[in-house]
Amino acid sequence: MRYFILSCLIFISSLAVLAHGDAEHDDDETAAADLSSVSVPAHPTYHEHVRPIIEASCVACHSDGQIAGYAPFTLAEDVVWAAQDIKFHVVNRLMPPWMPSRANRPLQNDRSLSDEEIAIIAAWADDGAPLGDPHDYTPSATDAVSPAEMRADLTLQLDEAYAPAADALDDYRCFAFELYVDAPQFITGYEFIPDVAKMAHHSIFYLFDEGAEGAIQSRDNADGRPGWSCHGGPGIASERKGIGGWTPGASPVLFPAGTGFPIKPSQQIVVQMHYNFWTTNQPDRSRIVLQLESAESELAELTDVPLAAPVEIPCPAGVEGPQCERERALDRVAEQYGADARAVPDRLLRRCGQSLEVYAENTGENARGYCDYPIQRSLTIFGVFGHMHELGRSFRLELNPDGEEPLLLLDIPRWDFHWQDHYLFVEPLQIAQGDILRIGCVWDSALSEDPRYVVWGEGTSDEMCFGTLLALKP
Ligand code: HEC
Repeated sequence: MRYFILSCLIFISSLAVLAHGDAEHDDDETAAADLSSVSVPAHPTYHEHVRPIIEASCVACHSDGQIAGYAPFTLAEDVVWAAQDIKFHVVNRLMPPWMPSRANRPLQNDRSLSDEEIAIIAAWADDGAPLGDPHDYTPSATDAVSPAEMRADLTLQLDEAYAPAADALDDYRCFAFELYVDAPQFITGYEFIPDVAKMAHHSIFYLFDEGAEGAIQSRDNADGRPGWSCHGGPGIASERKGIGGWTPGASPVLFPAGTGFPIKPSQQIVVQMHYNFWTTNQPDRSRIVLQLESAESELAELTDVPLAAPVEIPCPAGVEGPQCERERALDRVAEQYGADARAVPDRLLRRCGQSLEVYAENTGENARGYCDYPIQRSLTIFGVFGHMHELGRSFRLELNPDGEEPLLLLDIPRWDFHWQDHYLFVEPLQIAQGDILRIGCVWDSALSEDPRYVVWGEGTSDEMCFGTLLALKP
């Protein structure tokens, strides 16, 4: 464990962090599943033991027309053929894609496999992947759960299809939609319907206020095609709310009963799409369907509570030069995003009661950022979102990390930009006045193709340590 050296202490809570050195995230979870104590049937077969797992946990993505349709698991022969590859991916918890650790507070739609399921697949693959008897097949119980039903009150869709650039493997594109409502309403649920499911990797939805209209317009008109290129976020310096997101296989999302996000006719929703062109590249007109309630329905208002931590990532070992200076990094974000972007890194340090010395021991390969937020007023929270870019190694949102009963609201030991998501808790959580929320990130700048000093910014080669809480407006 490494300890930070500090010259000025502003928050007592920072002191506690340093004393414990636990702004670090343990990487224990990145290890393969430990299956030594799990008991499995002596000779598992495909039909009796493996097929129910594959159908419940894999085919939503691994079938024709879906994102992982190049590796379909709909035919027994294909699964048998891929047995060793499947074993490798499940034992190392690379598949199904689910970033939060098991220590995380329970989340809805948890895709991860149990140790028993992993052990069954491993034992079956090691045993030569026998097919067994189709009569022994019974669907898994989780298959029987039907997705939430929701009303389609408003559909947002581009007038003109967006044709992605042909030469890239990934494309991040933002699209703005006016809300065709004539009076204030509540959004009480949403469903994202990909047009070309094979290339829709994720999407994130933001609600912008009226004041952002000009900035959205100028972005949208920049290259004459629908939407604008955007990586870490919409790139619009204006108040916004993160209202939700989608990853392949996700079902419609209904907000907790009696709650909704208030919207006004003048507002716009910006959708950030991540396209991946591994198997196809086609014009796209994906849709978002919203369920609405009238403003008179007196629902409790939902809001998002943003949390951010400083980003101070030096060059990795062996890389030297002016690109490794912080000043250069600040100049660079100022050039790209305007003068205000230059002020953000220092503003973040101040807001977190820190100085650069807190991060004096950051190395490129192991750079941390964290911030403590003392809660001023009690809050009811329903879910969490965590966001970093591609240098991210781990992400954590903790409640009372130094208290007697610390709680992991979002614990992602192995960050993957491609599988970021909005997570809803199984049970809502009450946060009391005086509680401490800590957001913490770890980065590795050796993951960059063009290593340099990295600070906060929305571009591909900038970074963020950002999270939101989905909360009842206090
Ligand atoms: C939410 C969608 C999704 C689910 C669910 C999912 N996968 Fe995947 N899988 C993918 C995608 C997308 C890729 C391509 C790599 C990437 O983008 O991470 C992939 C890649 C793989 C690969 C590598 C294929 C290759 O070309 O080598 C294997 C093996 C795999 N998945 C197995 C599984 C198994 C087994 C399950 C279920 C236990 C599963 N996946 C569930 C989306 C999914």
